[in-house]
Amino acid sequence: MNHFEYRGGILHAEDVAIPDIAADVGTPFYCYSSATLTRHARVFMDAFKGQPARLCFSVKANSNLAVIATLAREGAGADVVSEGELRRALAVGIPPEKIVFSGVGKTEAEMSFALEVGIDQFNVESEPELELLSRLAAARGLTAKIAIRVNPDVDAKTHEKIATGKAENKFGISWKRAPAVYARAAELPGIAATGIDVHIGSQLTSLEPFEAAFRRVAGMVEELRAQGHKIEQIDLGGGLGIPYRGDNDIPPHPDEYAAMVKRTVGHLGCGLTFEPGRLIVGNAGILVSRVIYEKQGDDRKFLILDAAMNDLIRPTLYDAFHEIRPVFEPLGGEEVVYDIVGPVCETGDFLARGRPMPRLKAGDLVAIMSAGAYGAVQASTYNTRPLVPEVLVRGGDYATVRARPDYDEILKQDKIPAWLEPEKSPTR
Ligand code: LLP
Repeated sequence: MNHFEYRGGILHAEDVAIPDIAADVGTPFYCYSSATLTRHARVFMDAFKGQPARLCFSVKANSNLAVIATLAREGAGADVVSEGELRRALAVGIPPEKIVFSGVGKTEAEMSFALEVGIDQFNVESEPELELLSRLAAARGLTAKIAIRVNPDVDAKTHEKIATGKAENKFGISWKRAPAVYARAAELPGIAATGIDVHIGSQLTSLEPFEAAFRRVAGMVEELRAQGHKIEQIDLGGGLGIPYRGDNDIPPHPDEYAAMVKRTVGHLGCGLTFEPGRLIVGNAGILVSRVIYEKQGDDRKFLILDAAMNDLIRPTLYDAFHEIRPVFEPLGGEEVVYDIVGPVCETGDFLARGRPMPRLKAGDLVAIMSAGAYGAVQASTYNTRPLVPEVLVRGGDYATVRARPDYDEILKQDKIPAWLEPEKSPTR
């Protein structure tokens, strides 16, 4: 469910008409709905009523400060994967004791910072990381609470680039090796191994892979407890998918997911952490773009937008499907099959291919739906295209929560070395 709907034939974000924002900030831009964000956070937490669960929003999915502040006001904590994300979470007032730190390559500087601010839990992904964290914590007289991220060798049945729980993936520590790593952790100074963590992938549309992984985790908790380890926390990661094709592919509801969690790990009496990202923000954001040209190829029609792969890379990187809606509701009439592309000089620069659409023309606005997760955060300035602005709507209000940089700002980031300055270059 989301709050992007046609009203009087015009697409609105909550009570704000999209063309009004477009006239104000220009296109392309990302537009987020506060109501959808808070609704998704509440639906998720409500699903876990009666279970000792907490939501640590996966900041990588959308790290705009206004978005994470909105979720923080709902009580969400944060799952971060870098010092930058940790600083964002702290900047909006998320208490350190609601922050978990994931990632395969945490550096010494990053872990030192996280220890100093007192985050709740490090999700440790390798033995060398564990040894380094122990040294850093012990040197400060601190104890780092950790969970070992186990790799359960389960096929998440999602796109190969977003599957993380198979043995061949770089993530986590093999579940076979984990008991030895817990034994080592128990010997190390500055480490309290009180948790276990698993995350098998993103955009999962069935509960089965989760269930297989969670059963493996439950078995491990029992085994580890039998070996004398005090496991009190289970972090089950994120990964629950969202509908990208309207009502045609509805992944399991958080209620079904929560019931499955209860039957797989509920008997263990552990505190539960969840790290949803996409589920919270995916359908809370759209990318609004304007048609530059409609172009007739030999065998197809292209719709050339002012948004491109650098603004939303998901279609070309993960073969992802995003619904594309005209901002002015079509009233029937001619349908055309388009390849919907951007201006970037790459054949892979497309947002949709072979997409039936109402006939559109230069100047028309379109909304690329379900773009709130892994959209703006994965944008680049390729082709020296400015990062697109982000707008947050709440009811009848909206605010630009990241402005479009101007060209001077972009050019100023590069420096010309002295030897290339005209007055200093050698005379010939
Ligand atoms: N926890 C960990 C340790 C993760 O690696 C991820 C996502 C999440 C939680 C949140 O997963 P979610 O609930 O959002 O599925 N850029 C890709 C998705 C990459 C996911 C990376 N890890 C895409 O656009 O589909």
